[in-house]
Amino acid sequence: MRPIVLAAAAALAATAAFAQDYPTGPITIVVPFAAGGPTDTVTRLVADPMSKALGQQVVVQNVGGAGGTLGATQVAKADADGYTLLLHHIGMSTAPSLYPDLAFDPVKDFAPIGIVTSVPMTIIARKDFEPNTLTELVDYVKAHADTVTYANAGIGAASHLCGMLFMSAIDVELVTVPYQGTGPAMTDLIGGQVDFMCDQTTNTTGQIKGGEVKAYAVTSPERLANLPDLPTTAEAGLPDFQLGIWHGLYAPAATPPEVLAKLNEALKVAVADPTVAERIAELGTAPAAPEEVTPEALAKLLADQIALWKPLIEAAGAKAQ
Ligand code: MLT
Repeated sequence: MRPIVLAAAAALAATAAFAQDYPTGPITIVVPFAAGGPTDTVTRLVADPMSKALGQQVVVQNVGGAGGTLGATQVAKADADGYTLLLHHIGMSTAPSLYPDLAFDPVKDFAPIGIVTSVPMTIIARKDFEPNTLTELVDYVKAHADTVTYANAGIGAASHLCGMLFMSAIDVELVTVPYQGTGPAMTDLIGGQVDFMCDQTTNTTGQIKGGEVKAYAVTSPERLANLPDLPTTAEAGLPDFQLGIWHGLYAPAATPPEVLAKLNEALKVAVADPTVAERIAELGTAPAAPEEVTPEALAKLLADQIALWKPLIEAAGAKAQ
């Protein structure tokens, strides 16, 4: 047999053996935002049951910055061996339209593993902020557009997109204060350093229930069971303003298919785990349905969302500098 064929056969055998033994050590899931925020919360919820399913520790590494693109870039360039993964949200689909010099291609550089959940957003403010309803908030920020501060987790973050849609809907441009994640932004909001923000229920439910922040509306079509008194944006006066923050798990593009299959199986187990479902319901959302926890479903959602957001972002004139 010619040497080149032998080498190829040997490489194939090595990959098969590698995939068979996988995993033989800890697996890192990179969260592209600061610890303590919504994406971190979702990731830590699935990391534990995934660890049990894979028989190896699954650790979470927070790499915040640039609206989530720094952490995503790190995984796009990581070894395709199944030991470095990315859990990211809708930001994966908006980054190509916002960052002219993006260092990764969300479709070409990643292998999708599956959808994890979709989280509604809430519009909230520091608790001593003057407006008490969404309509009053709209009037107030229009009247004080030069001084009101809006917190977000950087260009392309969910909190940025929600703010962009809100500002477009009421036709104002506000002073935005960027953070490495809405975890640290929430601390400053509670401390009164910033006026308002839009953030995922996985990060706001506790503060809203505890009265630590003022809440105006939720961006879901229906009210949430865990926040029954909070009106929807439609009920509160912004009928065309709905937003769900979908989250997906990814590996570097060249990760062997056998390894991806094991990761998908482990993710399926984690997302279907009753403790995950219970906790995620307390935080205002639900795990993805089994047919969504597939590479195909995530690949389709990503492609559809890239196409959806491009014209919206262009219309809003949003661009990372
Ligand atoms: C976070 O985890 O901090 C958020 O997902 C940030 C955001 O996208 O708004």
